[in-house]
Amino acid sequence: MMLAQPSSKYRAFNPFATIQLSDRQWPSRQIEKAPIWMSTDLRDGNQALIEPMNAEKKMRFFKMLVNIGIKEIEVAFPSASDTDFEFVRQLITGNHIPDDVTIEVLTPAREDLIRRTIDAVQGAKRAIIHLYNPVSPAFRRIVFAKSCEEVKQIAIDGTQLIKTLTDARPETEWIFQYSPETFSMTELDVAKDICDTVTEIWQATPARKIIINLPSTVECTTPNIYADQIEWMHRHLAHRDATILSVHPHNDRGTAVAAAELAVMAGADRIEGCLFGNGERTGNVDLVTLALNLYTQGISPGLDFADIDAVRQCVEECNQIPVHPRHPYVGDLVHTAFSGSHQDAIKKGFAQQAPDGMWEVPYLPIDPRDIGRNYDAVIRVNSQSGKGGMTYLLEQEYGISMPRRMQIEFSHAVQQFADRSGLEVQASDLFQIFRQVFLTTDTGFAYHAHQVLEQRTSPSVPAHLSMRLELLFNGQSRVVQATGHGIHAASITAFVQQGIHIDPVEVTEHTFIDHQQQKQCQCVIEARINGDRQFGAGIAADAESAYIQALCSVVNRHLTNNEEALVA
Ligand code: KIV
Ligand code: ZN
Repeated sequence: MMLAQPSSKYRAFNPFATIQLSDRQWPSRQIEKAPIWMSTDLRDGNQALIEPMNAEKKMRFFKMLVNIGIKEIEVAFPSASDTDFEFVRQLITGNHIPDDVTIEVLTPAREDLIRRTIDAVQGAKRAIIHLYNPVSPAFRRIVFAKSCEEVKQIAIDGTQLIKTLTDARPETEWIFQYSPETFSMTELDVAKDICDTVTEIWQATPARKIIINLPSTVECTTPNIYADQIEWMHRHLAHRDATILSVHPHNDRGTAVAAAELAVMAGADRIEGCLFGNGERTGNVDLVTLALNLYTQGISPGLDFADIDAVRQCVEECNQIPVHPRHPYVGDLVHTAFSGSHQDAIKKGFAQQAPDGMWEVPYLPIDPRDIGRNYDAVIRVNSQSGKGGMTYLLEQEYGISMPRRMQIEFSHAVQQFADRSGLEVQASDLFQIFRQVFLTTDTGFAYHAHQVLEQRTSPSVPAHLSMRLELLFNGQSRVVQATGHGIHAASITAFVQQGIHIDPVEVTEHTFIDHQQQKQCQCVIEARINGDRQFGAGIAADAESAYIQALCSVVNRHLTNNEEALVA
């Protein structure tokens, strides 16, 4: 069934009727430094949890926030629950608040609740008292049935009471924050008038600033409009020099990060949000994404996410909400490429990335190591992957490498496997496939042992020698004696004696350390047999045995692929 036409049900939000900002500045600005971060995980985030945190979880979360470097932390809504009230007391009486960290508490504009909030922070060295009341036309009309003047009066009364109560407790350094809740749906002149008034009541000065926090309580516009609203306030607030301009974007339209970034370009000094975007409905803006967005632009966010998984674990356990695998920077899959062309580009990027150079690996906006990840998950293989990723994984995990054309043959076999299973292909699967395709000796020839019987001392390199070679053919022993200049030539002669003429086109050899930490030699031979071109591979503890194995592999693949009668 088609949804009803939206035009019959929803109204377009049209702030341009009120925003006079034809000379907006924010589009040509860039963010040059980190804003002040305020975590509201323990308040706004906590209010949105199915099971709000207990004191123990709150303390664990608080300590983690301190460790990552957040300096302003909204720790509670003390008048809303005893757990929150007691948690604030515990923080203060237990001396858990570092000198450079300021706790913040939220209060509605009601006398009894304000008094209880101030009681909660009794004895703190420094505290932000955060007063809010909703001011938008919809709230004035639908929820409170109050006029503009009446909602302004609520803010005035609340601010006056807080001023009186805090003036009477000079042992604490008090910072006042006011939020016109539902700001982004409010007429700008109404919001400005209330903010200017509370700023004057608080007697804010450049030395004793007020925090004016402008929330998009429900995100209802594109982020450019929020930016216009912030720039308008930034330019029109009567006491801007006495104000820390803060934003508090929610993520209802999925653009809170953009809204926060544009708001900073528009003049905001401070951002309130939650780690990984927890919060009411679709969440508060994600502070981690914001911080790492800055980091990847060469700007220090002043926050430490060097072990992002530990941060994630703490947040997931406290919130009891998993972080999505595609969540920016932290999700399990966000530093992973399955697509073949991406894998190829990443492989090349890694090969060219200088250890101390500017980070320039395609498709990876951040070096996973910077946030405590390794490169293990960067390339993963499924039916969408190409040869680049498959061979990269095989090389990383098993040390096995292949020339380009051999990779193509290998990737066909992997592709068939992936299509059949429909599952991710693990490195161990790749190794098994490699074995099946290139190392199988169930039928045909297998290398068993070789021994140099006689070697002439001669200036020629390699020296002429005679060799005893033990092969298996279809499981039966075959012992051959052959001569030649070096083991390679003698082995080829040994096959000639079996009626097989191998003409090597290219031989590549390298050593690697295998899973058991043993040194191994790998040999890949591309050779012509009766005009047929084949690849073969051998892996052994020494290079000579690996070479002979690779010859066996070439021959077996030739025989199988050409369905030739096996040599009697
Ligand atoms: O979203 C909001 O408006 C709030 C206020 C209390 C700041 O959380
Ligand atoms: Zn909020």
